[in-house]
Amino acid sequence: MCGIVAAIAEREVSRILLEGLKALEYRGYDSAGMAVIQGQAIDSLREVGKVQRLEQALEAHPLPGRLGIAHTRWATHGKPETRNAHPQASGHLMLVHNGVIENHQHWREHLLEQGYQFSSDTDTEVAAHLLHQRMASGDELLSAMQWLAGALEGAFALAAISTKEPEHIVACRKGAPLVIGVGIGEHFVASDPMALLPVTRQCIYLEEGDVADLQRESVSIYQQGQAVKRPVHRLDTESGRASKGAYRHWMLKEIHEQPAVLAECLEGRLDSQGRVLPLLAHDESAWLQSIENLHIVACGTSYHAALVARYWMEEWLQIPVHVEIASEYLYRRVVVPDKTAFLCISQSGETLDTLNALRKARKKAYQHYLGICNVARSTLVREVDHCLMTRAGPEIGVASTKAYTTQLTALALLMLAMGQARDENSENLQQAGKQLLRLPSDVEAVLAHADAIRQIAEALMQKTNVIFLGRGYQYPVAMEGALKLKEISYIHAEAYPAGELKHGPLALVNEELPVVAVAPNDRLLQKLQANMKEVQARGGQLYVFADEAVQPEGQLRGLVHLPLGGDWLSPVRASVALQLLAYDVAAMLGHDVDQPRNLAKSVTVE
Ligand code: G6P
Repeated sequence: MCGIVAAIAEREVSRILLEGLKALEYRGYDSAGMAVIQGQAIDSLREVGKVQRLEQALEAHPLPGRLGIAHTRWATHGKPETRNAHPQASGHLMLVHNGVIENHQHWREHLLEQGYQFSSDTDTEVAAHLLHQRMASGDELLSAMQWLAGALEGAFALAAISTKEPEHIVACRKGAPLVIGVGIGEHFVASDPMALLPVTRQCIYLEEGDVADLQRESVSIYQQGQAVKRPVHRLDTESGRASKGAYRHWMLKEIHEQPAVLAECLEGRLDSQGRVLPLLAHDESAWLQSIENLHIVACGTSYHAALVARYWMEEWLQIPVHVEIASEYLYRRVVVPDKTAFLCISQSGETLDTLNALRKARKKAYQHYLGICNVARSTLVREVDHCLMTRAGPEIGVASTKAYTTQLTALALLMLAMGQARDENSENLQQAGKQLLRLPSDVEAVLAHADAIRQIAEALMQKTNVIFLGRGYQYPVAMEGALKLKEISYIHAEAYPAGELKHGPLALVNEELPVVAVAPNDRLLQKLQANMKEVQARGGQLYVFADEAVQPEGQLRGLVHLPLGGDWLSPVRASVALQLLAYDVAAMLGHDVDQPRNLAKSVTVE
């Protein structure tokens, strides 16, 4: 998704801006640009494609100067073309923008009437012209930006510079994250602290509605025109980008990090007897016990984690759990029964649909607002009452892997805590807690089968469609497996609950169609075997990921025996195997595994 970096310093800033953009590449984008002021002149470069192309353009055409803004764009209004890339210009000023301006059409018409011309299809250019118009009628850049923040509707962040005032950068946050980096005699702005790590560890997180004025020696922040103070935080060095090491892609590294991060997620949260220690607050037992319904809202992979949790919670806690995609939850009438808690799950904590769902939920009579998140200083963490951190560390690959399995682990912990609050001495829950403690080593054991999984990947890489099947816990696992495959290999993949095959998808099954089934050794195995026979009877190509104790019958195109088990945690183990499958297919096809086309790591627009 779009990224903003801006800098004002004693030294030249183009290299700083470029390094910042590189640090944001993992978020996904389709074009990049930069503008720098030198003396009274402003110069810019914009390129479609990777930041590397911008870097090459900068070698041929350097942008000297000590004040500049830069951007990676993920197309929303207008195609990925140079004229739509940022910075967008209006006379003496240039502007970069993340997010979406909802009332841009209204302002576009107003500006056309005033004689402004548009050279792009973007909502960003509307913001640039509005700033320009405001300055033409007497405002300074800062007051023009304060006015603009009020005049624009939507969720966005902006940063602007002008040759009329070449001694500062003005930025605002309204619905999209923005952080200020504090250096010695220099200041920076970025949409993600990752971009600041090469230059500073000191940062200030802007609040909703803040407008910031950055000069070399000072930062002033205003909220509704009034000066406000915001604390300076020290960026965790852990959030620094480690290297890929010997791994070919970040995604592969992150898949293999899972035993370590799952252990990290569990650290200090379960005792050796499998009892959960306070997770969210010291007084949590009483209020966790009082929750009689749960609504969980999320997007993408985080939504799949929620679907697994529904099976767990309804089975172990016997409370109704409703799981919904955030963008759907947003636009329908939601009925909230008494004693219902709201839980949102987001790796980044910045997904706009999820945040908007939380804000909608805030207006309803939920008893508690809870979150599961991986980024400590994200908007989501700040807007819920209690947040359970997944501790996965920064995830660079756009396709989520370790963030997903740590979400599952966090959900498992939450389920155990809620169960324990209801029945303090439950033997079953303690046994489940002990199984959870073994999860990191279980995942290690699954990863040891990477070579066998690669053989299945070799067969699938030739295909254009794949169906994934699972029953019970494994149905959301199949959904996540299909999502992983389509995200990075661009092979069309769909998941079905195996029992639903006969109600439609069976019509697709022929000698050409690969069907991947997930077969742990659980109580639904017999039912799944019957569904697999339905595929075999139609000549379908069946590939099975089975627990070691399972011997699938009939003709198979591929079989991987893995220690999946058949217990409640089998979905975590099976998911890891399907992550490897998707990775191998995409890597063998030669795709850009870490930055798949058209996708973004953190989606901060609706
Ligand atoms: C994007 C990412 C997915 C992610 C989803 C939700 O689509 O590409 O990997 O699952 O957003 O992100 P969140 O940060 O809210 O978990």
